[in-house]
Amino acid sequence: MSESLFLNACYKRNKDRPPIWFMRQAGRYLPEYRKLRSKYSFLEMVHTPDLACEVTLQPITRFGFDAAILYSDILVITEVFNLYFDFIEGKGPQLRDYHLSITEIAKTVSNEPVIETLSYVYDAISLLKSSLGNRPLIGFSGSPFTVACYLIEKQSSKTFSSVKSLIESDPSLFHSILQALTEVTITHLSNQIKAGVNAVQIFDTWGSMLTDDDYHTFSFDYIYQIVQAVQSFNVPIIIYSKDTANKLPSLIKLNTNVISVDWNSSLDVLQQQYPMMAWQGNLNPHTLLESLPAALEETKMICETMKNSPGFIFNLGHGILPKTPLEHVDAIVNYVKQL
Ligand code: CP3
Repeated sequence: MSESLFLNACYKRNKDRPPIWFMRQAGRYLPEYRKLRSKYSFLEMVHTPDLACEVTLQPITRFGFDAAILYSDILVITEVFNLYFDFIEGKGPQLRDYHLSITEIAKTVSNEPVIETLSYVYDAISLLKSSLGNRPLIGFSGSPFTVACYLIEKQSSKTFSSVKSLIESDPSLFHSILQALTEVTITHLSNQIKAGVNAVQIFDTWGSMLTDDDYHTFSFDYIYQIVQAVQSFNVPIIIYSKDTANKLPSLIKLNTNVISVDWNSSLDVLQQQYPMMAWQGNLNPHTLLESLPAALEETKMICETMKNSPGFIFNLGHGILPKTPLEHVDAIVNYVKQL
């Protein structure tokens, strides 16, 4: 049963084949997704529980992944402070109140959050629970640092120059933003669990750009608060960080059940170094896009390495890319499922 595979692997007690799901599995590589998306904006789909539910189920119906991940975004959390992101074609997220200064943003997130703003997320979860049967549903949030990166830069960035200069110029203002985001993240994840998600994943995509000291101060400490608070619900917690290798000694100390690993780390080395952890990963999404024989070869190697591990979840090292051919996904899912 799917439920036992994924959840058992999170708890390091899977005796069967590894479970498989892909980050961003509901998205633009699917024709059925693009069809809906031609009628609605990303935000409309995310804000409408029926549509969010339908999109979450699309990859499950087509490929039979062992877990579903809620169709939403890490940036919706700022809506509790009445701050909205628009998702602009070819550009990505952009803060609607683009002209707010960092001081004004900090002041806005110091207001009392209105968590009910996110009710549509919890409604989508309730809807999904009845359609998914006993296939597990994964909820998620961003790490406070990663969400703050978008609030401070107001859009995607390659250099994060505003974040870096805020760390230099006014760390206490930055801490006030991070603490406010931490508190609403705890509530948001708790509400997702109460609505029915079976596991949660925290995406700390950009934490890896920090030096080790700054990582501890501006990312680790806040994720740690979240993990401590959410652990009481007894659902597995997964942490994802890009550039896993560099941050591993810290990631281990977060006490999550699972670490989601990018393709620059060797699972072989990791599981020997940290035998108590469960691991998720780590096929390179670019290989999956470009070459099926290479992707299959890599998949075989990963599965061979993790063959005797009770705590292994097959996934990509980052989200699936929009141009990935369906046959490639199909072949990888079939390969893992016949193991
Ligand atoms: O994984 C899933 O299928 C669940 C849903 C999910 C989305 N975003 C849907 C989405 C999850 C877990 C996320 C996480 C997320 N969002 C992260 C962390 C993980 C990562 O990828 O590093 C970040 C940094 C974001 C912020 C974000 N959202 C960006 C930068 C973008 C634009 C880039 C892009 O791919 O278009 C988004 C939009 C977004 N979020 C899409 C999807 C399916 C594309 C929407 C569309 O145009 O249809």
